[in-house]
Amino acid sequence: MAQRADEKNEKKILCVGLVCLDIISVVDEFPREDSDNRCVSQRWQRGGNASNSCTVLSLLGSPCAFMGSLCAGPAASFIVEDFSRRAIDISRLAWQPTGQTPSACCVVCPSSGSRTVLLADTNIPDVTSEDFNAVDLSAFKWIHWEARDPDQQLKMMRRVARYNAALPRQQKITISVEIEKPRENLYRLFSHADVVFVSKDVARQLGFNSPRSALRGLRGRLKAGFESQKSQEDGRGAIQHAVLICAWAEKGADASDADGTLLHSDAFPPECVLDTLGAGDTFNAAVIHKLANGCDLQDALTFGCRVAGCKCGFHGYDAIAEKLSALTRV
Ligand code: ADP
Ligand code: FRU
Repeated sequence: MAQRADEKNEKKILCVGLVCLDIISVVDEFPREDSDNRCVSQRWQRGGNASNSCTVLSLLGSPCAFMGSLCAGPAASFIVEDFSRRAIDISRLAWQPTGQTPSACCVVCPSSGSRTVLLADTNIPDVTSEDFNAVDLSAFKWIHWEARDPDQQLKMMRRVARYNAALPRQQKITISVEIEKPRENLYRLFSHADVVFVSKDVARQLGFNSPRSALRGLRGRLKAGFESQKSQEDGRGAIQHAVLICAWAEKGADASDADGTLLHSDAFPPECVLDTLGAGDTFNAAVIHKLANGCDLQDALTFGCRVAGCKCGFHGYDAIAEKLSALTRV
């Protein structure tokens, strides 16, 4: 897919963030501390939010690229091979001479629908703004960041904003960010993106108990002055806010439009919940896929919930491809 995009000179979606090796154990019942158990199955899977979102973008047919850190070794070889299986462009990977490729022990428990993650990712340097300066921005129509290192990521976003300033609206790169971890230092990124995905964990930590109240309460943190397509088409030319999106597991997801209208989609629960690991990354990718292809926010939100709900009904991501025609028919 990436090759096809290169041949056609089609602009891609770049996701910047974590890639790791997920060692996933599927269990009947969540283990008791200090017990010794046999799991139902175990597998290796390429993980990390930005990396998972690339998987889903690729499965949905959006040409995409990943930028993150890896350190050569067996885990990295597995990861690189998997990126290539998905035709995800990894030419901007930051290969680190020292450190360890991040890895996670993940326990997926279908009987409760939980996914428990123990991540080790502090032993490798993250992508820096200097790495990002080497990226040819003209190859991209959308750049998505998984919030991790706000000092570096702010510099990257500012570079894109400067690049955008000289371009007509249709050629500007859309900047999105996912603020998933409830860490105060990440909240500075709210005001630098056109589209912000905020998690229920962050919403709760900031004192909101529903997606709607989070959208209302967090809108003031967004950047103003984003000229939405809608306002242009309306001929109002008004200064608009960025878009804010908040997914809330079984409750679906809500969003506030550039002019503050609140939107909602219910969740689409599968017949049987099997694997919720990466549901949020799937949701983000499906929303970005739609918005980057010119769909309106309500359609993107509903599609995000549909694809993420469907993903919870099987292990991993492969089956998204099989279900795609049913997902896009509606
Ligand atoms: P994360 O994986 O980041 O914790 P969420 O739990 O908020 O993300 O889920 C993201 C989206 O995935 C939700 O908006 C919803 O559409 C879908 N989803 C998650 N869990 C379920 C579930 N149990 N049933 C149906 N849809 C779900
Ligand atoms: C899923 C995921 C896993 C990874 C963990 C990192 O959202 O990206 O693939 O192990 O979260 O926090």
